[in-house]
Amino acid sequence: MTAQASQETRVAAITTGLDRLKRSLHPDPRATGPDAVHEPPWNSAYVAHADPAPAITARMADFGYSTDELHGRAGIRDDLAMAGPIQLLTSDGAQALRAICRGLKPYAPHNDYVVSHRLRGVEALSPFVHAMARDPGFLHAVSGVVGVPLIPHPLRDAGVQINYYGPPSDPTQAAPVAKWHLDGMNYVFTMTLSDHEEHAGGDYIYYRGHPRDFDTRRAEITAKGPAHAQVHTAPFQHVGDTMFTRGSRVYHAVTPVTRGDRITLAVSLFCPVLGRQDENRFWHSAPDDGLLRTMNNWRKLHQAIRRPATYCRRERIPILPIAPGG
Ligand SMILES: [Fe+2]
Repeated sequence: MTAQASQETRVAAITTGLDRLKRSLHPDPRATGPDAVHEPPWNSAYVAHADPAPAITARMADFGYSTDELHGRAGIRDDLAMAGPIQLLTSDGAQALRAICRGLKPYAPHNDYVVSHRLRGVEALSPFVHAMARDPGFLHAVSGVVGVPLIPHPLRDAGVQINYYGPPSDPTQAAPVAKWHLDGMNYVFTMTLSDHEEHAGGDYIYYRGHPRDFDTRRAEITAKGPAHAQVHTAPFQHVGDTMFTRGSRVYHAVTPVTRGDRITLAVSLFCPVLGRQDENRFWHSAPDDGLLRTMNNWRKLHQAIRRPATYCRRERIPILPIAPGG
């Protein structure tokens, strides 16, 4: 492996400051889905039993975090940094989801803020995904992986997203990537809907270290990419393989796909008993959703933080009394 990333694997870092303000004032038009829904119904039998001991189980200490920086509170340990690959859905469930996400591809806008080709707010476009994110068995499974109770994220625009990677149709354009970034979300499950054999590139890479160190050495890390000693590649192989990432605390990126195509579904969740530790920031979301929509979304998020039980009742979200693995 070379010391510098090749052009095929080099990924820039997300912009900040004035660029975010400009994007917030001039957001892309909201994506709309198909006029009529043509997708199979969600079935609770699609939920798989997640492997309790996946190949990667990394705690926040493994990423250089000290005890006083961790999420959680007395009696609630919340320090899982990464875990996977796991299967949240059965093979049939993952294949059904793959077909649905492929069908939504024409509605996904291109944008160079974070993920180049991405459909946000998928719960509003897919009844299957909406039902999956509220299924008690699904929530039981994701809660069990992290060890805290999890529900669909109140920031619905950012909650479930589909990311599309593939060579650009116009060869003068850059291939879609995910730039190096931290998410606003604490609990992110990324599911690949492509077999690795179907594409070259498109690797989910992450920095196994503290964001403070990443920020200090940003130029070196982004230049070296996967060749950097502390940059690792998530072991996605088959349709349905899923990684948990504490997205708000682990820098990550996706390299360009040079052959074939790759689709991933990112499901972000919310811990109703640790809602005040949610790390979403207004100026992280506003460049995607625009100022007005972000203000409205923010109001809903803070209602859920202040009164989670009321929020769950109103949204018909099942409340799990305790994390199965906690
Ligand atoms: Fe991300």
